[in-house]
Amino acid sequence: MTKAIAGYTYGAPTLARSPVSLEDFERMKKSVLFGDDDVAALRESLAILDDQREAILDVWYGFVGSQPHLVASFSHNGAPTMEYLGAVRRRFSQWILDTARAEYDQRWLDYQHEIGLRHHRTKKNQTDGVSAAAIVPFRDLFALVFPVTFTLRPFLAKRGHSAEAVERMYNAWLKSCLLQVTLWSHGYVKDGDF
Ligand code: HEM
Repeated sequence: MTKAIAGYTYGAPTLARSPVSLEDFERMKKSVLFGDDDVAALRESLAILDDQREAILDVWYGFVGSQPHLVASFSHNGAPTMEYLGAVRRRFSQWILDTARAEYDQRWLDYQHEIGLRHHRTKKNQTDGVSAAAIVPFRDLFALVFPVTFTLRPFLAKRGHSAEAVERMYNAWLKSCLLQVTLWSHGYVKDGDF
């Protein structure tokens, strides 16, 4: 049995239904040239990344920690809230697995919507009961896709896969992150404009 992750509500019946339908998502996949080969590449990355998650998170957190304007999202009265950083880190670790599993059903879509609301002022801070910044600014959401995926690449290459396989997995991760962050943006976009 794995220990329950606080605040991780993937699949919970209480989650709101995503305003984006599975049909919409199919079309979004086409926009980013995401196909079955990408699903396969993501799933191939699961076994590679699973036991490297802590090292990956050290890199990602190191990056966020080195940028005061990013740490600000985790801060209250100018200081980062350590319990908050720790709680989000555990869900982030699970997110690596969920991204690599690439199971795109209604449950997945609904949790994507939830993650978006948690970045937006609609639900930020509520899951962990903290009083940090009220919103993750939209301007940083897509920009973070680059550092997240670029720094993942060496970890994909650590288990002796061919350069071509690493490239395939890297591209699939990049596309998946773009799709996910787009889904997360729903709450930031004016009504009717998504
Ligand atoms: C590629 C872009 C990003 C990815 C992949 C990402 C990933 C995640 C994940 C997986 C979670 C946990 C979701 C859950 O509760 O299950 C999370 C939460 C959070 N992220 Fe991001 N994030 C991104 C952009 C950003 C940016 C730019 C910031 C600004 C520093 C940020 C700050 C936060 C904060 C503060 C939370 C906690 C929200 C809450 O109160 O529940 N994220 N992020």
